Amino acid sequence: MLENRTRIEKLISEEEIAKRVRELAAEIAADYPEQSITLLGILGGAATLTVDLGRELWKLGMHNVIEDYMAIESYGAGTESNGAPRITKDSKLPITGKHVILVEDIVDSGWSLKALRELLDTRGAASLAVLSLLSKPERREADVEIDYLGFTITNQYVVGYGLDGDEQYRNMPFIGVLVADDSQTA
Ligand code: IMP
Ligand code: MG
Repeated sequence: MLENRTRIEKLISEEEIAKRVRELAAEIAADYPEQSITLLGILGGAATLTVDLGRELWKLGMHNVIEDYMAIESYGAGTESNGAPRITKDSKLPITGKHVILVEDIVDSGWSLKALRELLDTRGAASLAVLSLLSKPERREADVEIDYLGFTITNQYVVGYGLDGDEQYRNMPFIGVLVADDSQTA
């Protein structure tokens, strides 16, 4: 039986990602002088980015950084987005009174971010900003704001640097497009 083959086309290199993460860290360090912040990474896609960003912030002198994580259930295609997202893992620490930066891997339709933001808005953070490594504006349905954005990409399915295709490729150090390879016959 024939297997569906896929191959990966490099889109954003490891070096480009590292450079952009350093730039975003510098923006954050300038925006939060003398403040402690909580990086709230959304698992599993934003785990890689949260760790790298946290380290860059340290190098810039931000030694008061908490890294915490949440996991939410993603909506399937066509699923109604109203109501709170299902939290499968909540943050370890309360965010009340904290300066929080929500760290996402990618904003696609925007529904996940919108729901997550609405939920976090009820938790009394001192401030809540959103950072996303990637954004696909062509796909946007929900009105969401991204305060710190890594890269804008076109409407393609990407993997690597935390992003998965069926839970695979998260450990790939660069970002690539997953394309069906029809050249395989046999
Ligand atoms: P949204 O609610 O449509 O914005 O979906 C956001 C979530 O879908 C992201 O946090 C990812 O987990 C997933 N996602 C969307 N596009 C991609 C992609 O190109 N590659 C991997 N995951 C994606
Ligand atoms: Mg996600």
